Amino acid sequence: MSDFGLPQSGDEGDFGKFDLRSVPSPCFVMDEVAIERNLAILAAVKAQSGAKVLLALKAFSMFSLAPLVRTYLDGTCASGLFEAQLANRHYGGSLTTFCAGYKPQDLPEIIKLSDHLIFNSVGQKDRFSSIVETMRAAGEQVSIGLRINPEHSEGHTEKYDPCAPCSRLGIPVSQLRTSDFVDVEGIHMHTLCEQGFEPLERTWAAILPKIEPYLANLKWINFGGGHHITRPDYNRDGLIEFIKDIRTKHQVDVYLEPGEASAIDAGILVGEVLDLPKNDKQLAITDISATCHMPDVIEAPYRPAMLGETNKGTSFLLGGPSCLAGDIIGEYQPAAPFEIGDRFAFLDQAHYSMVKTNTFNGVPLPAIAIWNSQTNQTRLIKQFGYDDFEQRLS
Ligand SMILES: Cc1ncc(COP(=O)(O)O)c(C=O)c1O
Repeated sequence: MSDFGLPQSGDEGDFGKFDLRSVPSPCFVMDEVAIERNLAILAAVKAQSGAKVLLALKAFSMFSLAPLVRTYLDGTCASGLFEAQLANRHYGGSLTTFCAGYKPQDLPEIIKLSDHLIFNSVGQKDRFSSIVETMRAAGEQVSIGLRINPEHSEGHTEKYDPCAPCSRLGIPVSQLRTSDFVDVEGIHMHTLCEQGFEPLERTWAAILPKIEPYLANLKWINFGGGHHITRPDYNRDGLIEFIKDIRTKHQVDVYLEPGEASAIDAGILVGEVLDLPKNDKQLAITDISATCHMPDVIEAPYRPAMLGETNKGTSFLLGGPSCLAGDIIGEYQPAAPFEIGDRFAFLDQAHYSMVKTNTFNGVPLPAIAIWNSQTNQTRLIKQFGYDDFEQRLS
């Protein structure tokens, strides 16, 4: 789930063949074949459109798969210093950094690491221009961009819509002035979520008359993420023609920052049933916690699809082991009634889950494994323990 809500998860892919007992519980399991399939689609769009495609690390930063990402994409986009450092250490390629608010002490390192540095306000761009100049004088090359707010909503939920009233994300396009573009080579916008091509086309049509005066001096346009390019029904031909058209008409490089599309339907979160109490309903306490492992379930909110779930038989209201009354995942009808010790898995958990886990209540973090659905080989990449819990506290 991205920062907009409304997931469209649910294709189990080859996970029906995965042995849920072959990993510890809880455990994120990525099918590297599915990840590669997504990346190959993005690479084809890149090749046919001439766009540069960057993986949004905020969605999916499983760096053990960085070699695969590097093979297909141009680089990554980061949300601040730490993701920029992760990008540099593990991914390589081109790096774009956008943060809603930079700290001056972070900027020299961010500038060293980034090819594009995108500001959320003209105020921050101007205030930090001396840092940029100092870094340039020291030999660093960085291209400056502004995030704009198209003031054209395609989002479904206000909480997740960067074009909602009083949004703090991006400079409202109606406020842009020629003087804002001093030292600016690009514009960035990110207003879509799990959407097809048409919302992008409509957004562009809405802002074009407003940004046209500035386009001649720009070198790049970054259309952010939220493009569900790897979904079977996505109009990829439309996107390719759209990008080609913008590149030729306006003589700019076009960037896309898909997060979710890179990892869609490529990972599961395996869990185990710990207890089966009853309170009006049949409950199931599991070692997967919504609040610790899939916080978007509560925040968005949404109900993750379960591998092999049916719409008949006994219903179980699943919840986590934490003390939070609202640590509830949802109601499910498994193929056979749950018994204590049974394994199960939630689908489409590669993106916006692993990057959001926490150890509230001392709940253990899920292990991380890579499975290859073609060879049926599984590699357990990482397991977490008490030390990981303790080192975040003092
Ligand atoms: C600036 C920016 N770029 C890219 C993305 C990736 O979006 P998605 O994972 O929906 O493709 C996000 C996520 O919300 C974002 O805020």
